[in-house]
Amino acid sequence: MLSSIKTNNFQSESKKLGMMYFRVAIVLFGAQLLMGLIAGLQFLYPEFLFNIFDFSVARMVHINALVVWMLYAMIGSVYLMLPDETGIKEPVAIGLGKLAFWILTAAVAVVVLVYIFVQVGPGKESTIWFINEGREYIEAPRWADIGIVAVVLVFYANVFFTYMKGQKTGIMTVMVANLLALAGLYITGMFFTDNISVDQFWWWWVIHLWVEATWEVFVGTLAAYALIKIINAKREIVEMWLWIEVLMLFGSGILGLGHHYFWIGTPEYWWEIGALFSSLEPVPLVAMFVHVLYDWGKEQGHGEAMGEDHVIKNGPAMAWITINAFGNFLGAGIWGFFHTLPQVNIYTHGSQFTAAHGHLAFFGAYATILIGMMYLGLQEAYGLKRMKATFNSKMAIFLITFGVLGMAVALTIAGYEQVLVERAELGAGWQAFFTAQNLPWYIQAQTWREIMGLVTFVGFVFLLIDLLTIGSKTQKSDD
Ligand code: HEM
Ligand code: HEM
Ligand SMILES: [Fe+2]
Repeated sequence: MLSSIKTNNFQSESKKLGMMYFRVAIVLFGAQLLMGLIAGLQFLYPEFLFNIFDFSVARMVHINALVVWMLYAMIGSVYLMLPDETGIKEPVAIGLGKLAFWILTAAVAVVVLVYIFVQVGPGKESTIWFINEGREYIEAPRWADIGIVAVVLVFYANVFFTYMKGQKTGIMTVMVANLLALAGLYITGMFFTDNISVDQFWWWWVIHLWVEATWEVFVGTLAAYALIKIINAKREIVEMWLWIEVLMLFGSGILGLGHHYFWIGTPEYWWEIGALFSSLEPVPLVAMFVHVLYDWGKEQGHGEAMGEDHVIKNGPAMAWITINAFGNFLGAGIWGFFHTLPQVNIYTHGSQFTAAHGHLAFFGAYATILIGMMYLGLQEAYGLKRMKATFNSKMAIFLITFGVLGMAVALTIAGYEQVLVERAELGAGWQAFFTAQNLPWYIQAQTWREIMGLVTFVGFVFLLIDLLTIGSKTQKSDD
């Protein structure tokens, strides 16, 4: 009976707030995919929506929605784990935290509407302030930038002071220190310079030092927390792994920044620095991979010996976290390493190869585990001791993973064609770019990307249905 279903078993407002962030995140994820499908179609039919909703606009909304939904899901995850890790039921200023959520969401809505309906402005200061800044991935206009900083300060203060009051676990200590770096880096992408090299120099501090340092550390803390929740992993073990990962991620990721400084007008010593340190970046990703599988294997062994207490308490979350371990290593580690040496990058730079890596890495390293966190939140919201994967969960896992993997393979083929024809054979000129894009191999690859994109989208529909129904279904079958 529907009326007996409890959807909000939380004892804590912090966790409820976490779920509010998750809801917005999933809506933006859907919007991201729709924009991707439009942009992908424009590769095949360049006239599609031409002068109405251009490729540049669809692409902009696609990748900005990506970044924003992930940040929402990250904040949601923090509010979800905060009471458990600190031992304090409510953050110090939960009311302010909620207000910040509504302000942020209203601002995001306004920015998206401006992206979609105003799209571009004249080359004046006012465009930077009110329409967009033109900095890939973080295009929000300046007024919104300033608002975001204010809202994030409220969020950070909540986390920091709650941490100071409560118990200080290793997970929470890493989280608090890392969040400060993550938020602080955003500021390096906010000021304006006339010199495009200087602009790009700082812009990469946000993009690279987010995804290859602070975000990676962030998902390390999530994996540690989630493994304790789902399989009762031993805290000492996951925290030991976490510290090792932190050391290696920062050790390689910070100077690995050099792999974006090869061709933008920065001094040539970046070739060596970028080559060396970014080549080391896959090492911590192997550690993260081993971490998840090691804990899982170990606990499964225990499970047999020790009975019911050691079962997997959340099937879909565990599946997504396992895919995260593989996906992070494959998308960031392997696909990243492919093009990170300057000798290779001179051919692959800015080709569809980059897009292949970008898709697989963002999906593998971040989308997966953040979806896992949503399932963890749902399990608690519905007060379930155990949540098993449903048919919908499995369809979502299979179709989304298969779809993104398929897109990455198709884009790798398109990139390979660009490297051989446009760069090596025709010498990378303007005309060469168009010649390569009009050859059948390229068009076929782009066709497959669009098909695989549709598969991903169907998977997303299953995911959405599952997130909306899995809790009540499980509750009913438990009764
Ligand atoms: C989860 C982690 C990662 C994510 C989400 C990620 C994502 C991306 C994205 C989206 C781009 C394209 C940026 C643009 O628009 O220009 C990019 C570029 C690049 N990434 Fe990663 N990346 C990750 C990790 C790595 C790692 C570990 C390596 C090396 C081992 C790497 C090597 C590169 C290189 C060399 C480029 C420049 C490509 C070019 O010259 O066109 N990435 N990455
Ligand atoms: C429905 C499925 C999707 C389609 C059809 C699609 C399509 C596209 C297209 C056409 C672009 C522009 C590429 C270019 O400028 O050459 C793009 C860029 C991008 N997409 Fe997607 N996308 C999809 C899903 C995703 C997912 C699931 C993620 C990550 C979780 C993602 C992350 C990105 C990133 C990071 C870029 C920028 C890549 C770069 O500049 O190298 N997309 N996508
Ligand atoms: Fe990078």
